[in-house]
Amino acid sequence: MKLFLVLALALLGAVSTHQLPSDEGAPEQEVPAEQGEEEPGEPEPPCPTESESFRVIVPGQEGRTCRYVFVNRCLTFRGAQRVCARCYRGRLASIHNYATNRRLRRTVRARTNRAQVWIGGITSRRHHCLRTHWVDRSPWNYSNWARGNPCRTRPTCVALCPAGGKWRSVSCRVRMPFICQY
Ligand SMILES: *[C@@H]1O[C@H](CO)[C@@H](O)[C@H](O)[C@H]1NC(C)=O
Repeated sequence: MKLFLVLALALLGAVSTHQLPSDEGAPEQEVPAEQGEEEPGEPEPPCPTESESFRVIVPGQEGRTCRYVFVNRCLTFRGAQRVCARCYRGRLASIHNYATNRRLRRTVRARTNRAQVWIGGITSRRHHCLRTHWVDRSPWNYSNWARGNPCRTRPTCVALCPAGGKWRSVSCRVRMPFICQY
């Protein structure tokens, strides 16, 4: 019996070693592992109240509208993603043009003094290069990086600075308000 257990464990070990994700990464693992956080078993925080959140509708191209919500509660990138998913059935926001960037930064600036808020970009390692993508997997076809950004030496997440509308690479563990899209 003991021998059987040892064998089974050894087999399991062998299997999981073979299945270690390559550089490509599992699609669901969006936040770089080394940027993970939050105690396991930490209870889910309550959804934002009306006074903590502000909804923004941005008229889109081709008659489509984009719905965003600014949440004035400081969470890590992963914590923010969870609130976007659980409370709004959405994701952290992706931004695809100047007009939306301006609209969002103005909304945020009017509602917080914080220097930065999370949007849904992640800079992570792909094929040995650090590349930035949106967590909603929409095309990376617009960016507004501050000078010297993105950080090209370590995985980071993308923060929008409401003062000037520029984007910066920030450690994903930092807690700040955030913008969801739903
Ligand atoms: C960028 O991608 C978004 C999302 O798919 C799309 O709506 C938008 O038209 C694209 N913009 C450009 C300039 O291609």
